[in-house]
Amino acid sequence: MSGPVRLERMRWWHVEQLMPVERELFAPQPWTERLFWSELGQPDTRHYLVALAGDGPQAQVAGYAGLCDHPDEAFVQTLAVAPPAQGSGLGSRLLVALLEEAGRRRQRTVSLEVRADNAPAQRLYDRHGFVRTGVRRGYYAGGVDALVLTRRA
Ligand SMILES: CC(C)(COP(=O)(O)OP(=O)(O)OC[C@H]1O[C@@H](n2cnc3c(N)ncnc32)[C@H](O)[C@@H]1OP(=O)(O)O)[C@@H](O)C(=O)NCCC(=O)NCCS
Repeated sequence: MSGPVRLERMRWWHVEQLMPVERELFAPQPWTERLFWSELGQPDTRHYLVALAGDGPQAQVAGYAGLCDHPDEAFVQTLAVAPPAQGSGLGSRLLVALLEEAGRRRQRTVSLEVRADNAPAQRLYDRHGFVRTGVRRGYYAGGVDALVLTRRA
């Protein structure tokens, strides 16, 4: 995956393209296509972005991310960068774009859940001002805890 990567609003036709990345990164509990479509069907409260490398039909999904706008806080629903594109700042770019959207929606609090054993993601969130505010014991497959992280603007 090479060349410039651009961020766009995620559309229904991106879902099929991103599923291989979803399955690779989030096995054994990937989201289904149906779940992505359900999220995209709620544009008032959801903001999903896709990162595309290349142009036209050749464009490849380098990453994606989504935000849910709850009444009293925003929530990072998902954040993913395809393995060949990791470590070059795309995860940060996607997260910053979601935080900016939360700001536009006048949300001062943004939360998310991350696996307790996912150190790279925790470092990314730490760099962007998230702090640990809770734990959901055994939330993920295999009994792995979810850490609840929160950022207050
Ligand atoms: C977590 C995840 C989204 C991070 O994405 P990413 O694009 O690799 O993130 P970034 O590149 O912004 O930052 C990652 C590292 O690359 C480094 N980096 C950033 N830009 C860089 C550049 N231009 N050159 C070299 N390294 C760079 C960062 O300093 C950071 O270093 P660290 O590991 O010491 O913290 C990605 O690893 C991923 O999709 N993981 C699997 C799914 C997942 O865990 N999602 C989160 C669920 S809560």
